[in-house]
Amino acid sequence: MIRLIFFAALLLHQSFSLRMHEKFSWKYLDYNWPSLEHRTFALSRGLYQPENNIILGVERWKNMLFVTVPRWRLGVPSSLNFIELPNWEKSPRLNPYPSWEESSILPYPTEATIVSTYRVQVDKCDRLWVIDNGVDNLLDQPKSIVPPAIVIFDLNRHQLIRRFVLPQNQLKNDTFLPNIVIDSSKYNCEDTHAYVTDAGSFGIIVYSFKKNKSWRIQHSFFHIDPTAGGFSIADTYFTWRDGVFGIALGHLRSDFSRDLFFHSLSATKEFVVPNKVLQNESLAMSTDPAHGEFRIVGDRGPGGHSATEVFDKNTDVIFFTQLAKDGIGCWNIQTPLNEYTAVLVDQDPIALIMPVDIKLDDDGYIWVLSNRMAHFIKKQMNFADYNFRIVVAKASELIKGTFCDVIYY
Ligand SMILES: *[C@@H]1O[C@H](CO)[C@@H](O)[C@H](O)[C@H]1NC(C)=O
Ligand SMILES: *[C@@H]1O[C@H](CO)[C@@H](O)[C@H](O)[C@H]1NC(C)=O
Ligand SMILES: *[C@@H]1O[C@H](CO)[C@@H](O)[C@H](O)[C@H]1NC(C)=O
Repeated sequence: MIRLIFFAALLLHQSFSLRMHEKFSWKYLDYNWPSLEHRTFALSRGLYQPENNIILGVERWKNMLFVTVPRWRLGVPSSLNFIELPNWEKSPRLNPYPSWEESSILPYPTEATIVSTYRVQVDKCDRLWVIDNGVDNLLDQPKSIVPPAIVIFDLNRHQLIRRFVLPQNQLKNDTFLPNIVIDSSKYNCEDTHAYVTDAGSFGIIVYSFKKNKSWRIQHSFFHIDPTAGGFSIADTYFTWRDGVFGIALGHLRSDFSRDLFFHSLSATKEFVVPNKVLQNESLAMSTDPAHGEFRIVGDRGPGGHSATEVFDKNTDVIFFTQLAKDGIGCWNIQTPLNEYTAVLVDQDPIALIMPVDIKLDDDGYIWVLSNRMAHFIKKQMNFADYNFRIVVAKASELIKGTFCDVIYY
């Protein structure tokens, strides 16, 4: 009964205004150029084409907010960038990371450290992990500049630690590497694993920092759900075929084992597998990778498509982007997962069109990036309007009054 009243109250109060704080917003992206002449030159030579720059990934570390700009079209000056925090500007310019020199892909062969990245993550040992897809102009005329690689920076010294080129036999023709999630503990920095999702050909590439080695794992749960491929975003109907995409790491136990939750983008179901299964190379490489260890968790229900997700150990809640709902969802892992327990914590048809990345920082804040990608792909952006946003809120505040809050179940 209490639950019924609660849901009714939620429905009555469902208003479409942003609860999260809009931290930054941009009409188009610009950079902190070494000088005005550099900018003018880049504009005149097509090295900087503002309309081809879209932000995609976000991550916060101390006083740096990393934002990525994939090289999906020509004229992206730098793919990996940061904004200095604190920052009270509405539309700050992006600073290439680690430097302008290491961000430019010209001339060929390139000296760039990162050619094109979508999402990045900082681990518990102050290292920034980047998955470089290595391709320029992906949407119009793809040009492979370097092979895909995992790139790791030491953030305290701003130095490159490692650039691990993924072995060719772990990549497929349709490989698309949108996300990287790091399994690390500050008590065990050497024994860190990265999970790179291959949404294009339905696999996860596991990289062991200790072994400096990667392996690929296939599973039927990494595929799309053919009955859930179509969805509409901002009045545009899409069918996307992106497989395994979002990963959230559960509570870390003393033996460094934890649950690894995951889902495909073109699907609404959530699955889980022990991290030790993915970390066991021989097990992962076997043709039947521990089928019993992969389990279905539940289903977010109609329109529950999500890009990335993140687990907050303080609230027991997984937060995920809700692409087809212009919103952010939550699910408390102590409850069964279904369309009634996976609820929205925020929704806004303008500020949260295409929420494509979500991260949790060390201070307990959720960062979300939204970017109108659907319009960008169709070259239908209106650059007089605000197209890109980064919004932020305290995780514990965000779930207040929702079914994810511990007092409600
Ligand atoms: C991958 O692409 C290459 C070159 O286009 C082609 O020869 C090969 O048959 C393709 N492999 C698969 C598995 O589709
Ligand atoms: C890691 O492995 C790659 C390729 O196998 C090799 O080129 C590189 O030198 C290795 N790095 C370290 C730090 O061992
Ligand atoms: C990996 O899995 C295999 C097969 O289940 C098992 O025999 C082996 O002990 C595991 N290795 C580790 C390091 O856990």
